[in-house]
Amino acid sequence: MRYVKAAQTKQLTDGGKLKVRLEDKDYLLTRIGDAYFAIDNACSHMGGSLYDGQLQGSQAVCPRHGSVFNVKTGQVIKPGKLFMISVRVEDLRSYPVQVEGTDILIGID
Ligand code: FES
Repeated sequence: MRYVKAAQTKQLTDGGKLKVRLEDKDYLLTRIGDAYFAIDNACSHMGGSLYDGQLQGSQAVCPRHGSVFNVKTGQVIKPGKLFMISVRVEDLRSYPVQVEGTDILIGID
């Protein structure tokens, strides 16, 4: 596992979110309390950008069809709907986050 610098701590207040691009992939980086979390930014349904949706506590809502994910674990909390039918959506990958001084690092492959 390689840890790559993703942001600085001053960029995220409690309840905040960032979209960070590392090596051609976007990650949703969030802060809840004093803890930081990283998951895939692209929704597993049709790739909606979770950064562009609402962050409600530890839940990220996909702006395209409303699927809800746990930003701590990447797990689906609730699938969204398309034409009144629940969409097929899978858990997102979550990534370990470390803080070194004022740097936030995400552990990627
Ligand atoms: S793209 Fe996210 S729910 Fe459809």
